[in-house]
Amino acid sequence: MKRSGEESTLPSRDRFLVFGAPAIEEAEIKEVVASLESGWLGTGPKVAQFEKDFGEYKGVAHAVAVNSCTAALHLSILAAGLKPGDEVITTPMTFCATVNAIIHAGAIPILADIDPKTMNIDPAQVAGKITSKTKAILPVHFAGRPCNMDALGEIVQEYNLTLIEDCAHAIETEYKGQKAGTFGDFGCFSFYVTKNIVTGEGGMVLCRREEDAARIKMLALHGMSKDAWKRFGDEGYKHYYVLECGFKYNMMDLQGAIGIHQLQRVELYWRRRQEIWQRYNEAFAGLLIGLPAEPEHGTRHAYHLYTILIDETKAGISRDEFLGAMTANNIGVGVHYLSIPEHPYYQQAFGWKPEDYSEAMRIGRQTVSLPLSAKLTDEDVDDVIMAVKTIIE
Ligand SMILES: Cc1ncc(COP(=O)(O)O)c(C=O)c1O
Repeated sequence: MKRSGEESTLPSRDRFLVFGAPAIEEAEIKEVVASLESGWLGTGPKVAQFEKDFGEYKGVAHAVAVNSCTAALHLSILAAGLKPGDEVITTPMTFCATVNAIIHAGAIPILADIDPKTMNIDPAQVAGKITSKTKAILPVHFAGRPCNMDALGEIVQEYNLTLIEDCAHAIETEYKGQKAGTFGDFGCFSFYVTKNIVTGEGGMVLCRREEDAARIKMLALHGMSKDAWKRFGDEGYKHYYVLECGFKYNMMDLQGAIGIHQLQRVELYWRRRQEIWQRYNEAFAGLLIGLPAEPEHGTRHAYHLYTILIDETKAGISRDEFLGAMTANNIGVGVHYLSIPEHPYYQQAFGWKPEDYSEAMRIGRQTVSLPLSAKLTDEDVDDVIMAVKTIIE
């Protein structure tokens, strides 16, 4: 092991490799230009096309595009009819947006610790957190690995709960042949710049019931009546009526224009990330670091994040020193995530302590995400491997 400050800080590449940089191709650039030239920048035909294409990809009838997964989660919780004081069980190993959406909807987030192998919410921990106020479960398919949907489904059935899946990492994920986002009442997706397909900012909700999709569509545009987005179209001005106090969460056509073409390459990109994942697995097999568990039989992993664990007692370098050494080698890295109870806001608001969710705490303090984007060239992957080996060996 070489500490940062020694020769491992000499960059093996001359340009910084940005973590999670998206692959943007000519077709989406042309489509965005066509949107700009048409003058219709806001919600319009490209968003409608993207919703249709995404719904078809997932095999569902009701897909509503919004401007983020955060918005998708917020509106799903509202559409589920949760009331202030209702409890929603989720994972401490997630991005803050998952928990914030619960709070914004007026509900109370309750955390259930993760299974350390899969890093997904542990159904046994969920069962232990059920109270008479529990109304929903909000699992996150972490890194693209599906949660144990059989076990979670049993809990949902037994207690008659709403199931909202956070599929921000899980566009291509499947569990026993069923696609992520179709198990629950709502499935929420992100097309943020680092995600498996991107629209810059953007999100989508899959709804089991048509009436929920209609309500989410309305709430995403100020609570204005159906098809208000068409009011300036060539069919003539249409009055709208505000039926609820909604939000400004609609997706723009400029975003839909990117999404339509990204979605056509979703499988191509998935195969590329799978290849990179396998190269990392082979290259790091002998190192004293933790590697991601193999995908479980009968599931499809979306390969959104490749996370290694740096245990200082084994690797001889702390996680944060490792992050610094990778950056010094011109390789961008990420941390997904410090566990939710590490953040001061949640400690103050809910009294959460990291050690009460010990598996998420440990992993959050050891984890490092390596670049895993379809944009990476073979040389980029070589550079990542070389940097990790130089720092650790
Ligand atoms: C697990 C998880 N949930 C929700 C979100 C929020 O997604 P968005 O940025 O599209 O609002 C993210 C984004 O990083 C995420 O990783």
